[in-house]
Amino acid sequence: MKKTFGVVLASTMVLLTAACGSSTTTSKQTTAPATAAAAATTASAAQSGKKVTLGFAQVGAESGWRTANTKSIQDSAKEAGFDLKFSDAQQKQENQIKAIRTYIQQKVDVIAFSPVVESGWDTVLKEAKDAGIPVILTDRAVDSKDTSLYKTFIGSDFVEEGRSAGKWLVDKYKDTKDTVNIVELQGTTGSAPANDRKAGFDEIIKSNPNLKVIASQTGDFTRAKGKEVMQAFLKANKNINVLYAHNDDMALGAIQAIEEAGLKPGKDIVIISVDGVKDGFQAASEGKINFIVECNPLLGGQLMQAVRDVLANKEIPKRIVTKEGVFTSEDAKRELPNRQY
Ligand code: AHR
Repeated sequence: MKKTFGVVLASTMVLLTAACGSSTTTSKQTTAPATAAAAATTASAAQSGKKVTLGFAQVGAESGWRTANTKSIQDSAKEAGFDLKFSDAQQKQENQIKAIRTYIQQKVDVIAFSPVVESGWDTVLKEAKDAGIPVILTDRAVDSKDTSLYKTFIGSDFVEEGRSAGKWLVDKYKDTKDTVNIVELQGTTGSAPANDRKAGFDEIIKSNPNLKVIASQTGDFTRAKGKEVMQAFLKANKNINVLYAHNDDMALGAIQAIEEAGLKPGKDIVIISVDGVKDGFQAASEGKINFIVECNPLLGGQLMQAVRDVLANKEIPKRIVTKEGVFTSEDAKRELPNRQY
């Protein structure tokens, strides 16, 4: 309990840090304007005193986490006095690419986006670089080899989140001799959180051969898909012991499916999820989710600070990691009234 309180305290401090616009850094690697055009653009924006224009291409509105993330970005941009151009890609990469090209045409000062998937960004990022517009990644990473295509990546360590989920499970079943059947609801196929949360989880649970993932499928980070896929899992497998959901929304959809099948979520099927939004905390406090790994959506303050720094030609870390906590049902009960999102 002491340990969990420490984690909660640490995550609260990070939220405060994020709100104050500074950041937690893990890398000493720094960036500089990649081209002469970029240097000229950033210097002139910083010196002219005109309102900074930030183009932000959001993933969509697929989850409670995303809604909180969008609000954080919009509120922080307003607070910073920036002119925010915001677009919602409805979980489609082509929409995000279109939005980024529009921001390039509009000659915004900075482009920021949370990439729907990891691959396929080099061409459009090169176009932004050639136009001298700096790009900041938030929440999700790209797999581009050329890291000069963006200034920094601000967001969670998704592999670590998967590991935290795996560690809790390994500990829970450390004395069990029977096979533990796990089903997994993955996030959007090809997205960084889906790839990394799976990788981190698999890495840890392989230490116990009794822990077996018997089915794993995407639920696209949405409640509706989480429910639909869980219904299919329940139909195909009579003996499911654990559900690992890559986010709360899919876990919440799955809980409906489990209850409709006459089973008790959190008891007949142990549930682990990622995010820690209010609805997830509510379910955890009712004992329907057993363990939540936090993923902090309040990235707005850190993003606006990075925009300021980039425009002022300051050196910034290439990677800015957000710190997060973990919560059992008991922690969730205690923390629910304080949950901001
Ligand atoms: O990229 C972060 C993930 O995207 C969150 O875990 C999920 O809820 C969201 O849709």
